[in-house]
Amino acid sequence: MTTTIPHPPRRVPFVGDVLGLDTVTPNQTTLKRFTELGPIYRRSILGTDLTFVGSAELAAQVYDEARWEKFVGRPLERLRPVVGDALFTAYNWESNWAKAHEVLLPAFAKEAMISYHGTMTEVVDELCTSLDTHAGEFVPVVEQMGKLTLEVIGRCGFGYSFDSFGGAEHPLVGAMSRTLTHAQRSAVPLAFVGKLLRRKAERQNELDQELLVRTVDGVIEERRTTGERRSDLLDRMLHPDGDIELDAENIRNQVLTFLVAGHETSVNALAFALHFIARSPEIAARMRAEARAVVSSGEVTYDDVPRLRYTRQVISETLRLWPTAPGFFRSAKRDTTLGGHEISAGEWVFVLLLAVQRDAAWGPDADEFNPDRFTPENSRGRAPELFKPFGTGIRSCIGRQFALHEMTLALATLLVRFDVEPEPGYELAVEETLTLRPKGLRLKFTRVEV
Ligand code: HEM
Repeated sequence: MTTTIPHPPRRVPFVGDVLGLDTVTPNQTTLKRFTELGPIYRRSILGTDLTFVGSAELAAQVYDEARWEKFVGRPLERLRPVVGDALFTAYNWESNWAKAHEVLLPAFAKEAMISYHGTMTEVVDELCTSLDTHAGEFVPVVEQMGKLTLEVIGRCGFGYSFDSFGGAEHPLVGAMSRTLTHAQRSAVPLAFVGKLLRRKAERQNELDQELLVRTVDGVIEERRTTGERRSDLLDRMLHPDGDIELDAENIRNQVLTFLVAGHETSVNALAFALHFIARSPEIAARMRAEARAVVSSGEVTYDDVPRLRYTRQVISETLRLWPTAPGFFRSAKRDTTLGGHEISAGEWVFVLLLAVQRDAAWGPDADEFNPDRFTPENSRGRAPELFKPFGTGIRSCIGRQFALHEMTLALATLLVRFDVEPEPGYELAVEETLTLRPKGLRLKFTRVEV
């Protein structure tokens, strides 16, 4: 049986399904559309089809790597002028993906992670000192956590400090965020109309891209000049084992990709987690009790991190409810079907994790924050498609362990050292770049007696 994929009810002649199109919070609007149109629907705009998948059952079909593969969707294509065929934005057939994947995979293995732990701890300590200077104030959380994640990826990945805790936010941070927002907003098929009206935004985008490239060139140049050898991502690219060589442009693209990918998603996940922790004294108390019980030496060691199980549950539940990478594109490798609909080879869909991870299979309280969903007992036998915040298959997130280690270490340390207080009257609002982030979130961090 094949049926037509549902579409929004009112089609406009010639242009198509433009009514209700949202370029500012598209993922949250798509989440709502599923309740009206069912778990799969299609917008057709000027002859371009955008098909959205929003249930675990359909996502499971798309996760079949024999039939589906990564697709470089329009927002990712918009990033290619600045990062080219680096890991995140490469087409499957581009040889640079396989080369870089092979060179960089060992940089995320256990041995490498052990070598990053000391640097991560050092940066978390600097974050705590920075929070002390704001004692008694409600501080912008994304900004503070952004300093942490930028320094961590800068120092662990490239031996480079952006001096984030030295004063004002590094201009790279704003440039990265605006570049992602621009990629998302200019990706809709009608964007060319807006483009004529948004010349200022286009000019800003050019300036941002120049700044990103200039900054990354500085990072690489510093290493080439000193000739220093380190066990980090940049060293692996400049001096790869074996006979794979990455050319200079490719290395620049990868460094920029890691700065963006290693920073944006993690900072937003930390901010969402802190929002929920601040709202729930019970969750905060359980995390603090766990950290005090596990951490014996005053500082979280590498071996302590996997023992911080409740903290990990809090992180998992945060990424379930607000997957900071809200979804990903997949295209059909051959003619196939999806939920009974015929799909031709090359057709693509966007799997909205934001919807899939709130599937009714999570229970009637799927929209509520509850870390106990991830206890070992409750996780046993759960269908894997219900939780994929780091993507799926060969093109899933290479930095998964890095992100989880960094976030667990940071949250456990913060909870041992600080009380986290919510700002009265704050209601969670979520803004979208290519990622999701809590808008205007401010929290107060007050030292606790140890
Ligand atoms: C890919 C999520 C942290 C580097 C991905 C994908 C997702 C994801 C969903 C797959 C995208 C797709 O299929 O199109 C996240 C989340 C993070 C996180 C939620 C944190 C909470 C990181 C970190 C790094 C990183 C810390 C680097 C240190 C990458 C790269 C890719 C990727 C390079 C592309 C992999 C490839 O295609 O070979 N990430 N990520 N990510 N991520 Fe992450």
